[in-house]
Amino acid sequence: MSKKALTVLLAGGLVLSSAHAAVVDANPHAPNAQSDHAFDNKIIKKIKEDRMYNQIALLSESPREAGTQGEYNAVQYIKSEFESYGYETELQPFEFEAGWEGTSTITINGTDFDGDVHTFNGSVDGTVEGSLVYVGLASADEVTVDLDGKIALIERGEISFYEKVQNVLDQGAEGVIMFNREGAEGNDFGYTYDGQNIPAVAINRDAGLQLVEQLGAGEVMATVSVEGSGPIYGTSYNVIATKKPHKNKDTGQIITVGAHHDSVEGGPGANDDASGVSGVLELARIMAKTPTDTELRFMTFGAEEKGLVGSYHYASTLSQDEVDRTVAHFQMDMIGSKDAGDLIMFTPDGEKNLVTDLGASAGARVAEEMIEYGQLGRSDHVPFFERGIPAALFIHAPLEPWYHSPEDTLDKISKEKLKETVEIVGAGVYEIARPDSPALENAKVAPGPVEYDFEDRPL
Ligand code: BES
Ligand code: ZN
Repeated sequence: MSKKALTVLLAGGLVLSSAHAAVVDANPHAPNAQSDHAFDNKIIKKIKEDRMYNQIALLSESPREAGTQGEYNAVQYIKSEFESYGYETELQPFEFEAGWEGTSTITINGTDFDGDVHTFNGSVDGTVEGSLVYVGLASADEVTVDLDGKIALIERGEISFYEKVQNVLDQGAEGVIMFNREGAEGNDFGYTYDGQNIPAVAINRDAGLQLVEQLGAGEVMATVSVEGSGPIYGTSYNVIATKKPHKNKDTGQIITVGAHHDSVEGGPGANDDASGVSGVLELARIMAKTPTDTELRFMTFGAEEKGLVGSYHYASTLSQDEVDRTVAHFQMDMIGSKDAGDLIMFTPDGEKNLVTDLGASAGARVAEEMIEYGQLGRSDHVPFFERGIPAALFIHAPLEPWYHSPEDTLDKISKEKLKETVEIVGAGVYEIARPDSPALENAKVAPGPVEYDFEDRPL
């Protein structure tokens, strides 16, 4: 672990309210700095990385792709863990786009095509007929002829589906048949995007090459027909455990702490993001017995890998009053890889906020390290940020080589990394949640006692 130079600033014109006590405490060079941190120790001394490791072991036994039994088992496990700590726990179901269906057929010179035809995700329904024109990979350079009323035959590869379809659409094509790239089997591929309103289908490579050959011998008339094209919805869940503040010491404020429990298809997702789930569970376990003056909501999101669907759903269920009272969202995603770099805090706009201030201050106190911040979305802090809630992603970067692969397994997890990250997040949360700290007047009031730098860290 690299220790970095740490500059500690005391707030200018220091007025010693108890809010500023946190500022003074944050100075790791102050005499007895560590022993002054009774409030941090209330949390960090209780962290049991072995518990977290065992939770990751259980969660990563099988993939947890959203909408599958694997996800549902994980959801039940997380719920039962929260409940065993004494929390009332809510399962929040929501729908997401899990796949695409559609029946497609092709005719060639009036004869039914006998190979398998796959409907592009997003294809519109309809039947179109026209002369078939082969446009190679369909780069802008290749698609120079007028395709008005024509069907474009395209080879997959090199540029995106979006560009290929757009290039032929711009020349007036009314349908797309795409064949697979060299070395690729089958025909299960393809997307069209909003506004690309033409039937688009995929066939395997051999069938495509045969059509190219046939075109060499003369004109080919083709029909492309797509029916019943549309999304297939699946159900995923968020798991939410709420800790109410002490009745007589309720600031009205809310802090949310999250991770995503779903994995990519076929991935054990030990680090992405069983690690973050174990962090949320461990902080929930500790905080359950720790009085706070702030409402704490511990949550794990489903369908993050499908486009942050669970966290967008959660954020959309918050009333404006709840949004106003939510002063911070801490997101833990990929917090335990042996093979990744150091901890960093990412915000979608690359600006500091209350959460990065709290994280940096906690990092200085508990790890005597400067925790840098940077700019990145790509996780569940984004929907919170978009509702105006200060939010940051705690992650190690550069990423490990196993990211989104079947190799993202338990043996790559470092207990040390888990522990340190949860110490920092836990100390950051507790800095506002502890009853002896005054309420933050609003989300813009940041303790901000330590200097910490922006870093354009590679991923
Ligand atoms: N854990 C990653 C987020 C991530 C990826 C952070 C790479 C930093 C670098 C997350 O689970 C993920 O893969 N997110 C998706 C987001 C998308 C589906 C909206 C991604 O980045 O592809
Ligand atoms: Zn992730």
